[in-house]
Amino acid sequence: MTDKGPAVFRLKEHIQRLLKGAKTCFMKVPFSEEELIEATLKTVKENGIDAGYIRPIIYYGYGKMGLDPHGAPVNVSIACWPWGSYLGDSAVKVKTSSFVRLHPRSTHAEAKIDGHYVNSIFASIEAKQAGFNEAILLDYEGNIAEGPGENLFIVKDGKIFTPALGNVLPGITRDSVTQIARDQGLEVKEKVLTKQDMTSADEAFFTGTAAEVTVIGQIDEHVWKNAPGPITEKLKGLYLDAVHGKLPKYHKWLSVV
Ligand SMILES: Cc1ncc(COP(=O)(O)O)c(C=O)c1O
Repeated sequence: MTDKGPAVFRLKEHIQRLLKGAKTCFMKVPFSEEELIEATLKTVKENGIDAGYIRPIIYYGYGKMGLDPHGAPVNVSIACWPWGSYLGDSAVKVKTSSFVRLHPRSTHAEAKIDGHYVNSIFASIEAKQAGFNEAILLDYEGNIAEGPGENLFIVKDGKIFTPALGNVLPGITRDSVTQIARDQGLEVKEKVLTKQDMTSADEAFFTGTAAEVTVIGQIDEHVWKNAPGPITEKLKGLYLDAVHGKLPKYHKWLSVV
């Protein structure tokens, strides 16, 4: 919610990523980017959502069985519902998952494809059953990739690092927080991150549309006693202010409903 009423954050970029993902899946989408943007805003308005989550999905519809989707209709659905912060407001405890993030040669790892989420679901279930709030998946080389539904950042000596694209989803919140941090004069770099880099970091946090900026307070047995650290706290505040239309610099990211 903003002063001007409900607004969707970075709608254009979300729809562009959705359409790019659909193309990756060889789908011919019967709607343009503008039509999908319009339909999303209308869905939010009709449902009277002030603050919540929107989930547009492009999928192969009825008409075809088997694993070759050629000839199946391509459908779109847009759902929305009120939803608070996915992982809550407190620092979360995360577990390194025994499930490896999908290999980029097994799938189009950079696309937001529903089938990928079986991997995320297994990692989440494992973490929850072990008493943690969330998982962290390593990539096939054993480096830090991301959460089941979040990108990950660490802060070390005032500098911010995040795993490079390739084995992670190109998160829109990842991009937003990177831009916000750089606008504050902070250095943000993409880097291969090991678990050792993470446990020796001063701060760590997740980003995601649902997770927003979530403070990480523990990974496995390693605890950050002073979480949230100052940089995480600052970025979390600025990100939420941007989402709620409080920072004119980032009004360009809002589509008022
Ligand atoms: C696997 C994965 N990584 C990262 C993210 C964060 O992406 P975004 O900031 O675009 O929501 C998501 C979001 O759903 C995700 O599913």
